[in-house]
Amino acid sequence: MKIKRSILITGGAGFIGSHVVRRFVTRYPDYRIVNADKLTYAGNLENLTDVEKKDNYFFEKIDITDKKAIAGLFAKYGFDGIIHLAAESHVDRSITSPDEFVHTNIVGTVNLLNAALSSWQKEKENKLFYHISTDEVYGTLGSTGRFTEETAYDPRSPYSASKASSDHLVRAYYHTYGLPALISNCSNNYGPNQFPEKLIPLAINNIKTNRPVPVYGEGANIRDWLYVEDHAAAIDQIFHNGKPGQTYNIGGNNEWRNIDLIRLLCRIMDRKLKRPEGESEKLITFVKDRPGHDLRYAIDSSKLKNETGWEPMTSFEEGLEKTVDWYLTNTGWMNNVISGEYEKYYDSMYTGR
Ligand code: NAD
Ligand code: DAU
Repeated sequence: MKIKRSILITGGAGFIGSHVVRRFVTRYPDYRIVNADKLTYAGNLENLTDVEKKDNYFFEKIDITDKKAIAGLFAKYGFDGIIHLAAESHVDRSITSPDEFVHTNIVGTVNLLNAALSSWQKEKENKLFYHISTDEVYGTLGSTGRFTEETAYDPRSPYSASKASSDHLVRAYYHTYGLPALISNCSNNYGPNQFPEKLIPLAINNIKTNRPVPVYGEGANIRDWLYVEDHAAAIDQIFHNGKPGQTYNIGGNNEWRNIDLIRLLCRIMDRKLKRPEGESEKLITFVKDRPGHDLRYAIDSSKLKNETGWEPMTSFEEGLEKTVDWYLTNTGWMNNVISGEYEKYYDSMYTGR
């Protein structure tokens, strides 16, 4: 079959990346999809077993901070599109080890920008560098308002500062060198395959195994939750219909205080595990707050809706049910990811052991 497009997806073995890879590989059989991933603790090829044998899917174990490896990858596949998700993504880890975030998220992004620029120097028509970013670059909100594409950047954690830096570099390459590039900034994702360092899978796993469910501070912080497949659908829309030089905010229009979300999850788990009502809530434990903890995120995604028609399709009720069912069914996946390094991380974060 003739290849219509050759697309590099970085970080495709991670949580969101694996859903994007699956969507592109299955919906676009005439696109060649190359997943380049270093397979850090967060990267897991088990996320992609259902598509790994497809003819249009290729995996390359590559570190985006390795310039030579990136040059070789571009020479081998001749990409015309890049969807860049590879990153260190967990705020708590960025507080204890910021250097890794600077290296991967900033230096890694610059390497990819340079490789794209050099490979597209003769012809920039029909090429696109699409950088996946976060709403955390905008900082924190009080009790009202929402982030728009015009909101000034105000990152407050090493993670969000590293993502903000990479966003600035992407825009600089667009303006200075004419690299066809665009960015989207999304709110909190949840769904199958998310590593259990993040709130929802960590809480599901702890409730299931009767461990304390750690809630930072008073649980009053608010996040805007989006089902991961809805994010993948937005990425698809933006990749095909977005305009270079533009930024698109993506959100779930679905704000929850952490404590209310955890209580809801406890009720769902009681029902699924056939526990008496209120049993799982007893596991909720308030712990020391995250330093510099952003109070509230909320996204205005009306620009994306007006330009492409995209809207979230999955209600929170439906998405949480699907997510809980996935984790309760895929116990092998969970057991594999919580062995080894995870226990050490968990103890250093939560038990002080
Ligand atoms: P994740 O941590 O689950 O996955 C990150 C992936 O990147 C992993 O597969 C990892 O192996 C890979 N990776 C890390 N360092 C690498 C390197 N040096 N070279 C190659 N690969 C490397 O992250 P996620 O939650 O899926 O997030 C993906 C992207 O989306 C990130 O850029 C993140 O900032 C952004 N984002 C995430 C959310 C969210 O709620 N999770 C929301 C908005 C934006
Ligand atoms: O907003 C988008 C961002 O969402 C992404 O850019 C990040 O990659 C992603 O990790 C996520 O960041 P958060 O810090 O919001 O997600 P996390 O799941 O770590 O935490 C969600 C909220 O829950 C936050 O207010 C901190 C709190 N929390 C988290 C954990 C892990 C707890 O109360 N207890 C916990 O154990």
